[in-house]
Amino acid sequence: MQLNLAVLPGDGIGKEVTTEALKVLGVIAGQNGHTLNYEEALVGGAALEAEGASISQATLDLCKNSDSILFGAVGLPKYDQAPADRRPEQALFALRKTFDLFSNLRPVKNLPVLQNASTLKPEVLNGVDLVVVRELTGGIYFGKPSQRFTDEGGRKAVDTLPYSEQEIERIVRVAFELAKTRNGKKKVTSVDKANVLNTSRLWREVANEVGKDYPDIELEHMLVDSAAMNLIRKPAAFDVIVTENMFGDILTDEASMLAGSMGLLASASLGSIKNPQGGQFGMYEPIHGTAPDITGQGIANPLAAIGCAAMLLRLTYGLETEANAIETAIENVLHKGYRTPDLYESGMTRLGTSQMGDAVIAELQK
Ligand code: IPM
Ligand code: MG
Repeated sequence: MQLNLAVLPGDGIGKEVTTEALKVLGVIAGQNGHTLNYEEALVGGAALEAEGASISQATLDLCKNSDSILFGAVGLPKYDQAPADRRPEQALFALRKTFDLFSNLRPVKNLPVLQNASTLKPEVLNGVDLVVVRELTGGIYFGKPSQRFTDEGGRKAVDTLPYSEQEIERIVRVAFELAKTRNGKKKVTSVDKANVLNTSRLWREVANEVGKDYPDIELEHMLVDSAAMNLIRKPAAFDVIVTENMFGDILTDEASMLAGSMGLLASASLGSIKNPQGGQFGMYEPIHGTAPDITGQGIANPLAAIGCAAMLLRLTYGLETEANAIETAIENVLHKGYRTPDLYESGMTRLGTSQMGDAVIAELQK
């Protein structure tokens, strides 16, 4: 198979971790008779500096002509005060909207071998295996008006949180379909704030309607504040969580701590678009950010980015065997005691970013 990718490493540690994911993809492609072709382009702060926009039209075109996007991270502290349209994050929003990537899958699994790395007790973490399905192209991230202004009352700002039934229906359906195929608890937890928000009351109504098509899947509704609590109280009770854009953003950072480190979590952003080969177009992105504090030191954890490579092979190309091989290799290096500093404990073997990539490749080559 031809694997034709757009690679957008972005800012901070994005470049370092994406390099490792590409190394692993190259090896797995070679082993299985696939050809890996990819083109890199700038995005985020790097693109703002060199090209005057956080993502150029040429880069969007490159993505459009590729099977999928392998993404690193965007955002740098120097842009903290910049206006909305001059921020690196804008590239993410442009990509999500342009390619209708409305469904963001963020799987969270607790590996017993990493339980010491978590701040939570092992008995809380046992059996955690959930996926958050975050709505990614609607809600308060995109609602208009969104602006600052000044009137006689002083400085003011407004953001708007809209949802249509179509937007809700399609994301809730993704969650139910996922619950059907996972060997999980066959449960969908729909998270909202229906005691306060109109959008949430609509969300709940539509979720109930969609749920009727899935009689074998349990549907529970949970208020977002309660979900935040239950994620650390009894996380193993969750299977598939579906929620709107901002709640999903917040809950997935929290949920990442169930795995042990943000440096472990991969995500896939999918939508309605087929790629030039007729497969699922997607953007694969580690959920950690640019980590400016450790950029350039060669110590970032590349396992989330490598996990993205596995998700890409599975979801865009249907290459389940290759995806499983990568995920098994990741588990094996952890079992061997290899750790980047984010997960290091005494008695383990400390590795840098590229050494960790090499360790995963060594497992694949066994
Ligand atoms: C994420 C990130 C982004 C988001 C930021 C970088 C804009 O936090 O993908 O979770 O809020 O969507
Ligand atoms: Mg986030």
